[in-house]
Amino acid sequence: MNDVFADRVVTGSEDRLAEMFGGSLGENGIKFSAGNPNSELFPIAQMKQAFNKAIDKSGSQIFEYQTVSGFEKLRERLAQWAGQTADINITADNILVTQGGQQALDLIGKLMLNAGDEIVVEAPTYVGALSAFDQYDPCYYDVEMDDDGINLEQLELVLQAHPNIKLLYTVPDFHNPTGVTLSFRKREKLVELAERYDFFILEDTPYRDLRYKGIKLPAIKSFDRHGRVLYVSSFSKILMPGLRVGWVAADKILIERLRKLKTSSDLETPGIVLAALDQYMENNDLSKHIAEMLPTYRSRLEAMLAVLDKTMPTDVRYTRPEGGFFIWLTLPEVIDAQKLLSEICIPKDRISFVPGKVFYAQRNRKNGMRLNFSGVDEEQIKVGITKLAKSIRSAITANKVGAVL
Ligand SMILES: Cc1ncc(COP(=O)(O)O)c(C=O)c1O
Repeated sequence: MNDVFADRVVTGSEDRLAEMFGGSLGENGIKFSAGNPNSELFPIAQMKQAFNKAIDKSGSQIFEYQTVSGFEKLRERLAQWAGQTADINITADNILVTQGGQQALDLIGKLMLNAGDEIVVEAPTYVGALSAFDQYDPCYYDVEMDDDGINLEQLELVLQAHPNIKLLYTVPDFHNPTGVTLSFRKREKLVELAERYDFFILEDTPYRDLRYKGIKLPAIKSFDRHGRVLYVSSFSKILMPGLRVGWVAADKILIERLRKLKTSSDLETPGIVLAALDQYMENNDLSKHIAEMLPTYRSRLEAMLAVLDKTMPTDVRYTRPEGGFFIWLTLPEVIDAQKLLSEICIPKDRISFVPGKVFYAQRNRKNGMRLNFSGVDEEQIKVGITKLAKSIRSAITANKVGAVL
């Protein structure tokens, strides 16, 4: 059967996304594995109104084929939003609307990566990006994450050793999976390095507006003077993932090429969804909606950090994010998070997390785990993290007496 498939399907493209979620938890299970926004915060009534208005306004025309780049008016709004939220100075012509940020990642991979082309990714990094890039069979170079984002000394060594590196993929704000945010200094420096070593930066930032403490930082793209940064954002985390609307902001030449690739792939993003989103933004204040969600997420983050502080063994390290959806735990190196999940946490504790291996391009590290706090309430956090800490402690003790988990 394998001869039926193209090489990209047979080689190098194991399904990273499918690997993420492990077994079923049953009814009272607690899921720290999801990456979802809290659906109770979705503005359903307003969105229903927006869809109705979009249909009333345009009638059957809205169900015709539209334009591939997405509604001009919505793109104008997005350009304005990029200025307001990320200090990016662009116009509607610099924007392509996509089916979620995920399609943008895929199209950029398709645009830029021949088999064997060299790309730098953070270690760990967003599994969906690896899954998109895997299709194009690139050569990955991993660079470590520090508490303030990608390690620039290590990055520079990699760039010196591999002068053909084309692209660097980064999630600078409340990184998935670690929750870490790239510092101001490093944002500026990354653009300088891109100029000096002649590569492009893919800045993927769906969590950017979900900041619960600290000061907002300008986007990497705001430092870009020569069109080296492709900025990808999405409505999935700040509004609703089911809309499947994301967008790329980049130099017009790149946008034009991406538009052609999108046409070949799906013709366009559904016009009715874009028209409804445009209506939503016309009649509602998106910033206000985001501000109203923040206290819920902030309390969940604080609750999780408080229980972690209280219960985790001292040899377990974890990040202290200022926003987003995730906290990253690093266990002692001898512990395999995948085994902990499938042998103890799922069957006995009825809790789940995402074991770290899938977030590494080379799948070569097993002692990390991603915990989601946005989709669980404070009681679940207290009960679930206490159980997790207990199981980790037992695994560490068992390991010390020789029973490797
Ligand atoms: C860092 C990152 N990029 C992109 C995406 C894709 O999101 P969507 O396609 O829903 O916009 C996600 C989703 O979890 C993400 O975490």
